[in-house]
Amino acid sequence: MSIVMDGNGRWAKERGEERLRGHFEGVESIRACVEECVRLGIRYISLFAFSEENWNRSEHEVTGLMKLIFNSMEKEMHLFIGQNVRLRVLGNRDRLPDELNGEIDKIEAMTKNNDVLDMILFISYSGQWDILQAARRFAADAAADPSLLETAGADTFSKYLVTAGIPDPDLIIRTSGEMRLSNYLLWQAAYSEYYFTDTLWPDFRKEEFHKALEEYSRRDRRYGKV
Ligand code: FPP
Repeated sequence: MSIVMDGNGRWAKERGEERLRGHFEGVESIRACVEECVRLGIRYISLFAFSEENWNRSEHEVTGLMKLIFNSMEKEMHLFIGQNVRLRVLGNRDRLPDELNGEIDKIEAMTKNNDVLDMILFISYSGQWDILQAARRFAADAAADPSLLETAGADTFSKYLVTAGIPDPDLIIRTSGEMRLSNYLLWQAAYSEYYFTDTLWPDFRKEEFHKALEEYSRRDRRYGKV
């Protein structure tokens, strides 16, 4: 399952507070959902934490978000280790501050054998960026071995995406009433079910998470068949 965590800014605005306050509160929602995944035996959760487009926000907000991500990772270490959660960060890592990249490397290495829940954070990510970097690497391999152009299907191409080896999400949740994919997992979402809710991300806690799962359990997934 995957979540587009939206509405932090509006949540803060409604309370007359600065936008970062909403992101701060949003971390509590992440913790609530991760804990529920562990409890319910859900094997994968991925979260859209920062898009390529988010770099265009004010320097104050971008710096604040990077710091928040860094601090939250450090603080939640015990949760990852104690609950056997494997953490991975996917996206254009070249754009992240060195300090954050160092922390990510450390946590990824420390949790790489954890096998209760895979938690994937998409940071500095966009679906088009992912497809482009995959196409570039595929083209390089095809230049060396032109038979690839004939033989490669979707399964082969998927291996070039940063999500190689991670199952496509069964369910994508987006909060705050927006009904768009916003350049998220464009390729991987081919057969995902969508769940939209007006609830703002900082208010999306255990009960809301269960509501989404309940609705998903009523869906009839046909993958193009009858
Ligand atoms: C979208 O709300 C949310 C984000 C751009 C950031 C989400 C990040 C977090 C919740 C913190 C991440 C922390 C970790 C540990 C991964 P918005 O700002 O677009 O809200 P708005 O649409 O109401 O303005």
